[in-house]
Amino acid sequence: MTLIRTFEYVYYKMLSIKKINENDSDLCYELDSNTISLWSKKQWTNEFKKEGTKIFGLLLENFVIGICVLQFVLDEAQINYFVVNQKYRKRGFGSYFMSDLIKKCHKLKINKLLLEVSQNNLIAENFYNSFDFHTVGTRKNYYKDGSNALLKEKKLTTK
Ligand SMILES: CC(C)(COP(=O)(O)OP(=O)(O)OC[C@H]1O[C@@H](n2cnc3c(N)ncnc32)[C@H](O)[C@@H]1OP(=O)(O)O)[C@@H](O)C(=O)NCCC(=O)NCCS
Repeated sequence: MTLIRTFEYVYYKMLSIKKINENDSDLCYELDSNTISLWSKKQWTNEFKKEGTKIFGLLLENFVIGICVLQFVLDEAQINYFVVNQKYRKRGFGSYFMSDLIKKCHKLKINKLLLEVSQNNLIAENFYNSFDFHTVGTRKNYYKDGSNALLKEKKLTTK
């Protein structure tokens, strides 16, 4: 194990993933505002009320460093939001979070994970590709900046 790996291992022991609720909507809004600024405060509050939506937080001790919004429809789950705090990127935290969410989906007998990502967001695309998400379609001019959305999916095998 290299020195960097040892350092990361110490971090991993401080990590946890928990379902977060409406009381944390301000916290979600804050992390969002400091990262990809996708939703307003009102939109975050509404996300917590949506049927079939579960919101998970990645915590480093008690500090939320990542958020994922998952929407469940029958045996499919759509990732509507996935972010890791800028300061904690490129250290494997996003992968740790995603691996755990995939395990949760397996347990819930989800057969397919879906998401949309901007064609210009090469970092996120790389990230999703590393989890075997495949591009199954494109929505032209989908985002405000005129970029296309790639529709990606990952099939989960139930064993
Ligand atoms: C995408 C994101 C969640 C990745 O989180 P992270 O904690 O940095 O990811 P990891 O450190 O676990 O990296 C896992 C893999 O993702 C890819 N990746 C992550 N950061 C990358 C970068 N800067 N450049 C290229 N590839 C990158 C690599 O394949 C990496 O594997 P490697 O370390 O073996 O090369 C994070 O960059 C983020 O929050 N981005 C902004 C939000 C966003 O775009 N969300 C998706 C919108 S749909």
